[in-house]
Amino acid sequence: MPQQPVFLCHQHQLEEGQARGFDPWGEGRDSVIAMIWQGQVRVYANLCPHFGVTMQFRKDRFMSGDGAHIVCFAHGALFDPDDGACVLGPCLGQALTALAVTTDEASGLWLSA
Ligand code: FES
Repeated sequence: MPQQPVFLCHQHQLEEGQARGFDPWGEGRDSVIAMIWQGQVRVYANLCPHFGVTMQFRKDRFMSGDGAHIVCFAHGALFDPDDGACVLGPCLGQALTALAVTTDEASGLWLSA
């Protein structure tokens, strides 16, 4: 049975270069990371490919100090915000799982089923 798209947020809630966590399925944890990167919406599962754990240091703290990468605070892996590829750390060669989103006429972002 196909699942329905799930509302994530409005695009205006996202800022360029600032990853935020969301809980679109009401699990009590931020299971999704979303941000604007170079003008494009980027959405990933909040799951490090190294050990399958959530990555934030604390709420909405996903970026490296220089703002250039998404970082997993467990062991310091760095990910390219553009495509989620690990560029440094123990999961080199792996990547964050990109999630497909659609945008409605009111700039609402929906996770595809
Ligand atoms: S769990 Fe993310 S780098 Fe190890």
